[in-house]
Amino acid sequence: MSEAILSVVNVSHNFYTKKGMTIEVLKNMNISLYYGEFLGIVGQSGSGKTTLLKIMAGLIKPTSGSVFYKSKPINGPTPAISLVFQEPALFPWLTVLENVVLALKRFKELSREEVVERARSYLDMVGLSGFESVYPGELSGGMKQRVVLARALVTNPDVLLMDEPFSNVDPLTAVSLRREIDMLRAHETLPPSSVLLVSHNVEEIVELSDRVIVLSGRPAEIKGEVKISMEKPRDRRSPLFYEYVDAIFTLMS
Ligand SMILES: Nc1ncnc2c1ncn2[C@@H]1O[C@H](COP(=O)(O)OP(=O)(O)O)[C@@H](O)[C@H]1O
Ligand SMILES: [Mg+2]
Repeated sequence: MSEAILSVVNVSHNFYTKKGMTIEVLKNMNISLYYGEFLGIVGQSGSGKTTLLKIMAGLIKPTSGSVFYKSKPINGPTPAISLVFQEPALFPWLTVLENVVLALKRFKELSREEVVERARSYLDMVGLSGFESVYPGELSGGMKQRVVLARALVTNPDVLLMDEPFSNVDPLTAVSLRREIDMLRAHETLPPSSVLLVSHNVEEIVELSDRVIVLSGRPAEIKGEVKISMEKPRDRRSPLFYEYVDAIFTLMS
C-alpha cells in the first residue's frame, strides 16, 4: 500500500442560503491522493467537485472532517499545493511573464533575475516562449490556460489540483493541452509528485488518470473507483478505452 500525500478524511460540506436553507454538497468523503499518482475524480455538474478541490487546497474549511497534507492537517492555502481553476484567472494588467513571476513573490530567497529566469523556463515548457511580454487579453483561451499551468508549476508544488482545466478551451486545443500534461508527467525531474484532475468529462478522465473516483450527484458521495491500466498516450477509439468509459458511466448512473 503506498502512502497518501493528501488525504480527505470524513469531509462533509454544506452551504447555507440567505433564506436559511441548507445545501448539502459533500457527504462523508474519504479520499487519498497517493505519491506519484494521477487521480481523476468524475462527477456531474453541480455535484460538488469545485467545492471539494477548494477544500483540498485549503481555500474553504469543510463543515466537518479534515484534510491532511503529508499527515499534517491543512488550515489554509500552502505553496505545496497548486490549484488550477476552471476559468483561467490572470491579471489582465500584467504581462504573461509578470503573471507567472507573481506566483514566486513568497520566494524571498530568489533574486529578481532568478525569478524571471525561472518564470521564463516554465513558460517555455508550456510552449509559450516568445509570449512573455504579451497581455492576457491578447491570448486565446488555450494559451491563457497554459499561462495558468506555468504559474501553477513554477512554485514546484508537490500536488497539482486541476478543476476542469480543458472545459473552456476549444476541443482541438484541449487535445494538445491534455497531451502536454501527459508529457509533463513523463518528465521525471519535474514536480508535482501527484496530480488530481476533476471533471464531468468521462473520456478526459479516462485518458489521463491512473485511478478514477466516481461521485454521485449532490450531495456527492463516492460511488466507486476504477483503476486504469493502459499505456499512454491512450487511444480513445480502442475497445479497452470504451470498456473503462462504460464502467465509469455504469457507476455514475
Ligand atoms: N458559495 C456557495 N454558496 C452556496 N452554494 C454554493 C456555493 N458554491 C457552490 N454552491 C452549490 O454547491 C453545489 C456544488 O457546486 P460545485 O462544487 O461548484 O459543483 P461542481 O464543481 O461539481 O459543478 C451546487 O449546487 C452549487 O450551486
Ligand atoms: Mg466545478
